[in-house]
Amino acid sequence: MRVLITDSYDQMGLEAAKIVAGQIYLKPNSVLGLATGSTPLSMYERLVAVHRTVGLDFSEVTTFNLDEYIGMGPDNPQSYHYFMQEHFFKHINIKPENVHIPNGMAQDVIAEGERYEQLIAAKGGIDLQVLGIGQNAHIGFNEPDVKFAATTHKVELDEETILDNSRFFNNVDEVPRYAISMGIKTIMMAEHVVLLANGKNKARAVYKAVCGDVTPEAPASILQLHRDVVVILDKEAAELLP
Ligand code: F6R
Repeated sequence: MRVLITDSYDQMGLEAAKIVAGQIYLKPNSVLGLATGSTPLSMYERLVAVHRTVGLDFSEVTTFNLDEYIGMGPDNPQSYHYFMQEHFFKHINIKPENVHIPNGMAQDVIAEGERYEQLIAAKGGIDLQVLGIGQNAHIGFNEPDVKFAATTHKVELDEETILDNSRFFNNVDEVPRYAISMGIKTIMMAEHVVLLANGKNKARAVYKAVCGDVTPEAPASILQLHRDVVVILDKEAAELLP
């Protein structure tokens, strides 16, 4: 695990964008794993800028998002489908058929999880996975638990996650209670991983991910066992690191 501490949220996004852009330059048909939330926004902005200015080409890139709320279709402005379109996909030249996000409207969530895993495998696996981290150290929506969940599955969101994410909704009651998320094994199978975190409120989770025991009670700690992880932080998120 390598840890890169940057001066600011923008710098964090820039460093992450450099890694993603480098991956695409080296392998134009890369398979990227992507995250939503406020953390990766500066990275998406930078990638859009690189696409516009020097023509970073996404035409052969395939993406798989980590998660989606259950019960939300792509047209719902609170859905992660919508988020990704607004903040990233509509600004680059990615082919719509190469974009994959779990279907939050699937009748059979178990079958949807299996379909998603098969699709990732059929594309040759994820080359580079971008992650944010929850205040409870979740990655994807893999919440603290007694065991590491393996593959794409239905999750019940923690109260802490629901409260955190209520900032995107009118009130806490609107936040969905369930999501479908890639599992820990899905994430760990990625060739390279970039974990991003910014802000003081992530410092404890970052400490657990980087320095804590490897335990399903802090899901991000599993990344200590991955062979190629870069953790990119701003100063505030790094403040508890030794
Ligand atoms: C999002 C995801 C989550 C977020 C995490 C941090 O697709 O899987 O793990 O990365 O909840 O969210 P923000 O960035 O909004 O603090």
